[in-house]
Amino acid sequence: MIQLLLKVCRFIKFYFRATSVRKVHSPFVYEFLENIVLNKTPYYIFKPLDSYRKLLSLNNTVLNVEDYGAGSTYSKNTNRKVASILRHSVKPRKYAELLFRMVQEWKPTTMLELGTSLGLTSMYIAKANKEGKLISVEGSHEIATFARKGFEKFDCSNIVQIVGQFDEVLPDILTENKRIDFAFVDGNHQESATIRYFDRLVKHVNQDTVLVFDDIHWSAGMENAWEHIKNHDSVTLSIDLFEMGIVFFFKRNQKEHHLIRF
Ligand SMILES: C[S@@+](CC[C@H](N)C(=O)[O-])C[C@H]1O[C@@H](n2cnc3c(N)ncnc32)[C@H](O)[C@@H]1O
Repeated sequence: MIQLLLKVCRFIKFYFRATSVRKVHSPFVYEFLENIVLNKTPYYIFKPLDSYRKLLSLNNTVLNVEDYGAGSTYSKNTNRKVASILRHSVKPRKYAELLFRMVQEWKPTTMLELGTSLGLTSMYIAKANKEGKLISVEGSHEIATFARKGFEKFDCSNIVQIVGQFDEVLPDILTENKRIDFAFVDGNHQESATIRYFDRLVKHVNQDTVLVFDDIHWSAGMENAWEHIKNHDSVTLSIDLFEMGIVFFFKRNQKEHHLIRF
């Protein structure tokens, strides 16, 4: 309850500091907002994935959840229904579709997701660029097995699923994939862990890489981690949508940070 109240306070603070989408002057950011964020195209995969989400919301299968992350604020129970995992841990459709549009626009070749959960965002990302490869990592074995069934159902052959703890599997992933073109970090929302993942990933970025961090205002610690990320020397542009923070590395004359109400 206190966590929730603090998040509401952080949202109010964000809301008054942020600008609305239509009032941005930076040309790149304006185009990004117009073409990607506000784009209302109903891409072919949105409907089927939305129907799948609805099916999951009715699914009472109980899965064992191994908690490697910041812990759950809603339940300490290690056995949870799929419907409950969906409600509490999976990104809403709005953000999953935004991830799709980013990937569909930029066509990153090597993509990484830390935090597969039921596999919904993984499928949006993978379907947005079938020529690319998405490496998606999940620590909870039963959740990973459940997600795999979804990948098979939707024929997501470009997802390479890795079951393991982020810290344990990341070194090997980054040795095998020297360059990461897109990453969505959505698991273990702790300050030190988020900074650690960023510090590892940043050694593998190029000018076109885009890194997306989820829940950057989830806690004071996550806000500190976001400060670390956006102030890093190699980050030239950051966009804070409250629920997600997006960072870019392309060359530009001066660093810019934007807070946008989405
Ligand atoms: C917020 S959920 C991911 C939701 C998913 N991206 C979506 O929106 O469809 C985070 C997932 O990361 C996993 N996770 C958290 N910390 C982890 C860690 N340190 N190593 C491996 N998996 C972890 C959790 O088990 C959980 O399933």
